[in-house]
Amino acid sequence: MSTAISPTAYNYKVVRQFAIMTVVWGILGMGLGVFIASQLVWPELNFGLPWTSFGRLRPLHTNLVIFAFGGCALFATSYYVVQRTCQTRLISDSLAAFHFWGWQAVIVGAGITLPLGYTTTKEYAELEWPLAILLAIVWIVYALVFFGTIVKRKTKHIYVGNWFYGAFIVVTAMLHIVNHMSLPVSLFKSYSAYSGATDAMIQWWYGHNAVGFFLTTGFLGMMYYFVPKQAERPIYSYRLSIVHFWALITLYIWAGPHHLHYTALPDWAQSLGMAMSIILLAPSWGGMINGMMTLSGAWHKLRTDPILRFLVVSLAFYGMSTFEGPMMAIKTVNSLSHYTDWTIGHVHAGALGWVAMISIGAIYHMIPKLFGRAQMHSTGLINTHFWLATIGTVLYIASMWVNGITQGLMWRAINDDGTLTYSFVEALQASHPGFIVRALGGAFFASGMLFMAYNVFRTVRASNPAEAEAAEQIAVVGAH
Ligand code: HEM
Ligand code: HEM
Repeated sequence: MSTAISPTAYNYKVVRQFAIMTVVWGILGMGLGVFIASQLVWPELNFGLPWTSFGRLRPLHTNLVIFAFGGCALFATSYYVVQRTCQTRLISDSLAAFHFWGWQAVIVGAGITLPLGYTTTKEYAELEWPLAILLAIVWIVYALVFFGTIVKRKTKHIYVGNWFYGAFIVVTAMLHIVNHMSLPVSLFKSYSAYSGATDAMIQWWYGHNAVGFFLTTGFLGMMYYFVPKQAERPIYSYRLSIVHFWALITLYIWAGPHHLHYTALPDWAQSLGMAMSIILLAPSWGGMINGMMTLSGAWHKLRTDPILRFLVVSLAFYGMSTFEGPMMAIKTVNSLSHYTDWTIGHVHAGALGWVAMISIGAIYHMIPKLFGRAQMHSTGLINTHFWLATIGTVLYIASMWVNGITQGLMWRAINDDGTLTYSFVEALQASHPGFIVRALGGAFFASGMLFMAYNVFRTVRASNPAEAEAAEQIAVVGAH
């Protein structure tokens, strides 16, 4: 544990801005998730209009939850963590401000263009070229601020959380730029520079590593700072965290082909993707165990600390989804799960259980410190939020497992004469109850976010600018 007092004032303004926007985008993105989930129950909610149709709102949901909610949580926490663990202020306030406003502009751009139907059609990379270029510029500015701050650090070594954030920043830039290579034909239309199976491979190299580096590696950076802080225990094993880091980033990048099983992709590439995905279980669980074991001797805190509960349950869901993923990557299992709601359940076990829960825990940890308060306005409300989120996630993923396996089995059932036993519509009818339960689970999760917004609002309102200012001048305590 290294402790040093420094007069350096941190730039908490940009952290506060990103933290608040995490809550705002979380409500909008998850609210939209509930809406599209309801469209699958009641198709009338498409209103017969193109811009309110499921097909256009679904990519808006994914962009809002991944890039707006998840992105803002990653930026808020990475700027907080890098300053505190390097014991220095961000290298440039104006570049950090450009990052904040530029990112909001990209999201607003997505909110306008996607419902209007402007899309590259590549999943998680739908934004057309002008917005994609803006995103690349904003990202490079982020990289400059983050790595510049690491370079001028006052500590000798670089805390492991920053390694994870750093890998997330570098690899996301690489994925975004390579996958978006395209030829614009008008202001809002471009065509991919790649074609056929190559295009598919590059898209899923991007898609899988968006999961691996955006939705996983960055959040592991968050885990390595906030779990020890909230548990008030050092990380279980620093050595394991280093092995975890190198093993994870070396393996993730090869696993993309598991999204393209039984396609025109060469068979050897599919098998390689499958093998790498199975091996990926080891570093994933290594990280999960490192986080969990950090609670050794501090488990009793779970009884009274709902923030710690968010962080620990997120690790449990991380362990669960990274066990499920490698299983689904096995070709024979994938022949059942692919195209079904099982994939959607897996996605949200990771997205709600891991990504959203750890972000929520980290934001609750940071908000009082950012606004000069001793704690959040109401611990009871955090606890209510915790249960709404946990029950919501379980309802979501359990209903999608049932739906997914039902769909997979019904689609492959054949009669003695070789004809299909069930029509597609019959499988859809069988899925209807699951769709209702999923919408209900989503509503639980999203309503928890409203409690969070109220709690954050009351905490912020109770702070005064002088106290918040003083929070920036606090003694600088290293994270390890
Ligand atoms: C060891 C870790 C993991 C492995 C090996 C893995 C594997 C897989 C597999 C095999 C699929 C199904 C592909 C298909 O049939 O189309 C899939 C889909 C997906 N997974 Fe994972 N997964 C892992 C962890 C995670 C985590 C932690 C998250 C979220 C934070 C996640 C998010 C997703 C998403 C978003 C998709 C859907 C992609 C799409 O088709 O749009 N995965 N994953
Ligand atoms: C209240 C919470 C949420 C609800 C109700 C919800 C609902 C939905 C629905 C209905 C779909 C479309 C499924 C389909 O096409 O059959 C979907 C897709 C998706 N959602 Fe969510 N969602 C929520 C939160 C989140 C969060 C927090 C994230 C990420 C951090 C996320 C990431 C995704 C992704 C990546 C997909 C695409 C999956 C794929 O293509 O395989 N969702 N969501």
